Formats: sequence, C-alpha cells, structure tokens
Amino acid sequence: MKKICVLKGDGIGPEIVNQAIKALKAVGDFEFNEELIGGCAIEEYGIPLPEITLKTAKESDAVLLGAVGDWKYDKLDPSLRPEKALLGIRKELGLFANLRPVKVMEELAGSSPLKADLARGTDIMIVRELTGGIYFGEPKGTEIRNNEETAYNTMVYSKHEIERIARVAFDSAMKRNKKVCSVDKANVLDVSRLWRKVITEVSADYPEVQLTHMYVDNAAMQLVVNPKQFDVIVTGNLFGDILSDEGSVIAGSLGLLPSASLSDKAPAMFEPCHGSAPDMKGMNKANPIATILSASMLLRYGLNMADEANKIENAVNQVIKEGYRTEDIYKSNNKSEILVGTEKIGDLIAERIH
Ligand code: IPM
Ligand code: MN
Repeated sequence: MKKICVLKGDGIGPEIVNQAIKALKAVGDFEFNEELIGGCAIEEYGIPLPEITLKTAKESDAVLLGAVGDWKYDKLDPSLRPEKALLGIRKELGLFANLRPVKVMEELAGSSPLKADLARGTDIMIVRELTGGIYFGEPKGTEIRNNEETAYNTMVYSKHEIERIARVAFDSAMKRNKKVCSVDKANVLDVSRLWRKVITEVSADYPEVQLTHMYVDNAAMQLVVNPKQFDVIVTGNLFGDILSDEGSVIAGSLGLLPSASLSDKAPAMFEPCHGSAPDMKGMNKANPIATILSASMLLRYGLNMADEANKIENAVNQVIKEGYRTEDIYKSNNKSEILVGTEKIGDLIAERIH
C-alpha cells in the first residue's frame, strides 16, 4: 500500500488537509502517517522540523502538507520560525521543482479581480525553482558595517540548478502548448544573465518549444494585462514566489491554487500555495480546494495514478458547476450560488468521486 506522509501544520492546515484526505480515501487505499511541522511541532518538540517528521517524510511515497506559520511565532529566532521547517523539508527532500498551475475555471472567471474576459481561458503552469536562489544563497547575515546595522542575502544559481529546472519546464511545455517564458532580471543581475544563457542552451534540446524571455517587472505586469499569452513560466525561487501569488488570484482566489514540489526521486511533496491563515483557523470557512487539488497532483505526479487524479479534478469541477462556493469565491448577488463551509464542500467533492 502506498504511504502518504501527512503534515497538517498550523492555522487552517488541519481542516483543509482533512478534506483532501476524504478525497484520497474516495479514490483508493493509502496508508496515512501523520507528523507535526511548523508551529505545532514547536509546541511539541521545541523545533519546527523534528527529526521524526523528516524521517517519516523520507520513508513515504509522497508527502501532503497543509500550511505552516502563526503570528505568534513572528518574534522567534529565524532558525526556529515555522517557515524554516518548510524551507528545511524542501531542501532535505531535494524538491527543486515547484509546479503551480493557474487555471481559470469557466464558472469562476467572474470571481477573478481581472475583467472576466481577460481571466477566462487562462491556463498557466508556473515552474518555480525551489531549493536555490536568494532563499538559500550564502553568504547571508546581519552585521554592523560602518557603525550601522546591515543585512544581506545572496542570489546565486549554478549551471546544473538552472539546467534541471529548465528541463522540467520544457518537458511540461511538451505536454501542453509548447511555449516556455523564462522570467529573470538579466538587465541588472549577473545571476539572471547566467539563468538566461543556460535556459537558452537547454532549449536547443526542445526544438518544438517556443522560448521567450521576460524581465520580472514586465512579467508581473503582463500577468494582469494578458495572462492568456502564457503557457509555461519558468523562473527562480523569489520571482516564482511572487508571481505565483499574483497568478493565483487571477483564477479567483488564493484558495484554489495547488502545488507540487518535485525532485528526481520520491517522495515529492504537495501543498496549497496559500498560507496558514491563522485568523480563519477552526472557523470552517477556509477553501480546501487548493489542498484537494494538491492531493490530485499527488496522485498524478507522486504516485503515477493519473486516472484517480482526474477523478478528483472532475469532482472539484462538478461541485463548482453545481454552484457550491466557499466564502472566498461566493457572490451573494448570484442566486445560483450556494455558500458552504470547509467540511461541506469537502464532503460534496468526496461524494462526487464515489
Ligand atoms: C510559498 C510560501 C513560502 C515561500 C514561505 C511560507 C516560506 O510563501 O510556499 O510560496 O516563500 O516559499
Ligand atoms: Mn509564497
């Protein structure tokens, strides 16, 4: 039986992951092994990423994660913050490729902050490098320079890191519309000039794929001006973090965007792109769809179970078509919409799978 390591985390993490588990149970039999990560692990073990969590994750076939973090921990030393656990587990599992699909469902085009006509039809795969760049670059630190408190980080990429993420992007494009847009800041940054050079080199192996390059400031603008121009976007860790939040709301809500974090071996990790929203914790109103779609990606990319993955996706689409909405995507002036909570929409989706 396939082993899924379940890391519910903090805030709304537990309630949204529970809905994803319902969906997984509806498509197959899995062994679920639950461990703590983030703030809840700090409470129990004094550190955000305990050894046992990492061990269980490494011994599993795939990892399903909710979200980590709470304002309560904002004052902790950076090495003990819940976010550190997320970066730590990504690094430890070698999850260098983060796939964040932004797909606008027809029924939700009206929920987009963009004009419905601009949003409608958008279907982008953001491929974000996840274990390098300025998030992990050395040297970094805080020190006194010229009698002044000074802090610095390093944005660094080596050739092999760019090559492997480029291949993920081009392989993904080959299964889609055969377009890759690489996003960088090559007009200013040395690291971006190497990025652009290596991406261009790798593109030679993919003659069918059309490659374009875009500066990140322009990309941020183009995403809201004409999101339909994009197929696959490939970019570094920091730019990908920013552009994927921007991309996600085009689809109507941050609560809809799933993600897959892959390495060249198992286990991969699957989590919604949004955070732990501590203010919504336990209120039964968080949208679990991003997590349920992450479970679908877990089946597709983590366990090679495409049929089962499709079943979950279809069930989500059906529930949306039937008009069910969590608060974040509900419009009270639309009579055909039915406002439901986290549990209810999770049940409805699981029922549509059975
Ligand atoms: C994300 C999050 C994380 C990131 C934080 C919580 C460390 O924003 O997954 O996008 O910046 O990668
Ligand atoms: Mn982010």
